[in-house]
Amino acid sequence: MDYVVFDLVIVIALLQYTNIQSSNGVISDQLKIAFEKEKITDVMVTFKHRPSEILSKISLQTKSVTDRGEKLRILSDELEILAKSSQINILKKLKEKNVGSRIRSLWITNQVSIGGASLDLVTSIAALPEVLKIDKIYSFKLEPDQDIQKKDDVHVEPPNNKMAYNDTISDKEITQASVYSWAVWKIQAPEVWEMGYDGQGVVVGIIDSGISLTHDVVYDSFIGTDEYGWFDPNKMGEVPRDITGHGTVCLGHMTGKYGMGVAPSAKWMACNCVDDGWRYREDWVLECFQFMLCPTDHMGNNKNCSRAPRVISNSYNTVPGESGEFFREITKVLVETDIHYVFSIGNFGSFCNSTGSPGNFEEFIGVGLTTIYDEYQTLSSAGPDPTGKLIKPDICAPADMVMSAHYEFGNDFIDIATGTSLSTPIVGGVIALMVQKNSKLSQKDVKKILFNSTTLAVIDEPKICGDTPDDQIPNNRIGWGVVNALKAILNVPEP
Ligand SMILES: *[C@@H]1O[C@H](CO)[C@@H](O)[C@H](O)[C@H]1NC(C)=O
Ligand SMILES: *[C@@H]1O[C@H](CO)[C@@H](O)[C@H](O)[C@H]1NC(C)=O
Ligand SMILES: *[C@@H]1O[C@H](CO)[C@@H](O)[C@H](O)[C@H]1NC(C)=O
Ligand SMILES: *[C@@H]1O[C@H](CO)[C@@H](O)[C@H](O)[C@H]1NC(C)=O
Repeated sequence: MDYVVFDLVIVIALLQYTNIQSSNGVISDQLKIAFEKEKITDVMVTFKHRPSEILSKISLQTKSVTDRGEKLRILSDELEILAKSSQINILKKLKEKNVGSRIRSLWITNQVSIGGASLDLVTSIAALPEVLKIDKIYSFKLEPDQDIQKKDDVHVEPPNNKMAYNDTISDKEITQASVYSWAVWKIQAPEVWEMGYDGQGVVVGIIDSGISLTHDVVYDSFIGTDEYGWFDPNKMGEVPRDITGHGTVCLGHMTGKYGMGVAPSAKWMACNCVDDGWRYREDWVLECFQFMLCPTDHMGNNKNCSRAPRVISNSYNTVPGESGEFFREITKVLVETDIHYVFSIGNFGSFCNSTGSPGNFEEFIGVGLTTIYDEYQTLSSAGPDPTGKLIKPDICAPADMVMSAHYEFGNDFIDIATGTSLSTPIVGGVIALMVQKNSKLSQKDVKKILFNSTTLAVIDEPKICGDTPDDQIPNNRIGWGVVNALKAILNVPEP
């Protein structure tokens, strides 16, 4: 008897020893600190096999495939196979122990997110040889004051937003629109609509706080839940909802009705990545990108990659100094697709080196902000990127005091929205028009054409950010300049 007890003690001691040894470096310092304060927390488990290891093999496999849905399917299937084989042990363990809540397997980064994990659980997972690291789930908040400035008492009766019109806009155009954004005219989108490009047949995606479906501006252009148009990793509900109002404001500028959006005939799909504390969560951002690459029903089942949108607009960014490192792995997957990604550069200007991630990554189009007078809006974050090597933002759009769907719930309008959150979907809308004209455009093609189709903006107090003076193009305040829909469409080659 004594002998057995002795044996058990040794085993337990050994187990603890192994755990401590093997969890060295696996559990992040931040997570350790979190456990000093709380008993359970939400964690992200990263596996040693990284998706980036197999991406070149996959791209060989998809090289001769012409159907975009099939290309995306192969990409996601291969990543799912990798994830399944890495995650089988841990998922089994979690099931057996019946611990942690909301366990999600992520194929896009080969990670598992676990809600409400204890230190015990984390320690035992850290001992598994297939595990690379375990972190606290990263989340970040937009600065509401910096982002979309709003006044609660503003209710605009459409149409009364004529301040931006000048004589070049005809009465006909004014009566066509009962509510309109001057920004849409400024970038010459109506002239492109007249040419037959208004977003018809194009599906755009938006990853944000969700969409307030009841708002007139966005209601008609929803592709529908049955058409795999909505996913909410938090509540898994069937009907689109907007946690903060931010998503609806942004979408209005991309597909909004009444002359508000740049691509008014495009259809939208959306995914929510914001929690009830208004924080953008890493795990939900990743789930949203999985949903966009291979859309599913609202429960996350029956994926159908041929329903992927052509453009994804992302009006969120980390604060300068926070690297957005969690985005690096997924970026490698996103560049393998024919989807186009725009990200806000942030509202932390006008200081140099004030860009947010991941709009400041080379792979993405980072969007800054200009005014109605084509001036650099000093809220707009300035480059270079933190390494000092990249000029950022890439391009700007006018969205200083623009009209939009109301920030709060309801069916009202505001005419004072300002921020890179709003300029970003304007560029997203222009890309929707471009891919309507030529659906074969690659990410590279779109960037090249967009950046070569700008108008110039004035910088009031020019200086030098990085090594680039503001009087050079591109520069670290306005990038290549202000987006222009007409120039862009004219530069898109016929397919
Ligand atoms: C009106 O807008 C057009 C297009 O932006 C511009 O070319 C023209 O100079 C403007 N006219 C006035 C009087 O501001
Ligand atoms: C996937 O969606 C497309 C529409 O985009 C549809 O034509 C096709 O039948 C769907 N495939 C499956 C397997 O449901
Ligand atoms: C930019 O700022 C970050 C801190 O926010 C710093 O780590 C980095 O070195 C800076 N980069 C440049 C090019 O000045
Ligand atoms: C930019 O566009 C102009 C026409 O607007 C064209 O002549 C030129 O070749 C383009 N440059 C690039 C790099 O695409």
